[in-house]
Amino acid sequence: MRVLVVGNGGREHALAWKISQSRRLKRLWIAPGNAGTALEGENVNILAEDIAGLVRFAKKESVDLVVVGPELPLTMGLVDALEKEKIRVFGPSRAAAQLEGSKVTCKQTLRRADVPTAEYQVFQDADSATRYVKARFPGERDRTPLVVKADGLASGKGVIVCSRREQVLEAIDRMGRKLEFGKASLPMIIEERLEGQEVSVLAITDGRTILPLPAAQDHKAAYDGDQGPNTGGMGAYSPTPIIDEELLETVEDKILVPTIHTMKRSRKPFRGVLYAGLMLTANGPKVLEYNVRFGDPECQPILMRLKSDLLDILEATVDGRLGDIDAPEWDTRASICVVMASAGYPGEYTKGHEITGLEAAAAIPDVKVFHAGTSFQDGKVVTAGGRVLGVTALGESLALAKLNAYKAVKEIRWPGAWCRKDISDKAAAHVLAAGELGR
Ligand code: AMP
Ligand code: GLY
Repeated sequence: MRVLVVGNGGREHALAWKISQSRRLKRLWIAPGNAGTALEGENVNILAEDIAGLVRFAKKESVDLVVVGPELPLTMGLVDALEKEKIRVFGPSRAAAQLEGSKVTCKQTLRRADVPTAEYQVFQDADSATRYVKARFPGERDRTPLVVKADGLASGKGVIVCSRREQVLEAIDRMGRKLEFGKASLPMIIEERLEGQEVSVLAITDGRTILPLPAAQDHKAAYDGDQGPNTGGMGAYSPTPIIDEELLETVEDKILVPTIHTMKRSRKPFRGVLYAGLMLTANGPKVLEYNVRFGDPECQPILMRLKSDLLDILEATVDGRLGDIDAPEWDTRASICVVMASAGYPGEYTKGHEITGLEAAAAIPDVKVFHAGTSFQDGKVVTAGGRVLGVTALGESLALAKLNAYKAVKEIRWPGAWCRKDISDKAAAHVLAAGELGR
């Protein structure tokens, strides 16, 4: 098979790496890729948002399967454009991708599907939103647990979690008057703030059959102990004891199945990866958001544990016969991915620093260094983004996987490189707490 992976992050490197192991692969391209994907296949200099360019390339090279990593080309209609040319592609259509592309569409779908989620209201302008908040929380300046969300894609920045009334009013102002997220700012959603542990469940679906992937947990905050600003994700691990079989079944029955059904009934059948961001509240799991693609970095530890041929799974999804293939085989060992970032990330950072020690890290058994923000400069691998590498390792237990990953991290250097030191500690804390409760 001739395969094209679209994107240039750690997720796409993991996809390319796994696909490159397929016995059925003939040729692999990554557009635009990074310095790491160049080791697994051939990088092509076409941006992930260049829909026409990607379609032209896929036609010219008679690509058999396109695998789309990031959300932006999905919401822009890359899948529809390729399908029009009879090119097979893994990922949801533009209409189905609105589950992530429009938070209002997502909430309406959840409501229609009767899936548990936070209570919400939609506002077209700042004045009506302000009036609503003042009327609903009269005089309660210090306790206004609300979340203000911009409708469109805003690189994870369009969600403002508030405790006090002035924070809510400021958030409304930023979205409704200053239009801080451009066209994505309006309409805005104001919803109740949920409390609990946050987890994600990812599943591959062909629109009928749902194949939940092993549970993984992301670490969104920049610094240890979940302190600091939100990032794209500073690390992830799999499996997580926070999601047990029973919870996974509940999520499948009460959340994934009704969502997929509703999408089908609304003539927007969903095919690809459905990623549910959940809050485990006292009243059970509730959906915070849907993403329509693999999580980054969750994808890295998950694919590290996949023993089956990924191409078989992706192809069966595209062809609508996910129910006919054998269940994938997963490594029983644990895996963790530690993101190494540029100094200053998630704020401003500089690029172009030479990265050393990659070979020494790669020589450690059961370690794979996935590249995210890297490129080549004068034959050297240099930094080219905020999240630079996803150092991923397997181990007999999470603790051993962690040891292995940080051993590899120690080998890798560039000026200002840093990472969180506590990836996967949430799992240990959870097990400890459950033990103390006698569960
Ligand atoms: P989202 O992009 O909708 O997942 O929001 C980003 C982050 O905001 C989530 O990962 C949560 O940490 C937080 N968040 C979103 N909605 C809520 C909510 N209703 N209650 C509490 N936290 C929320
Ligand atoms: N790691 C979170 C995301 O991919 O959205």
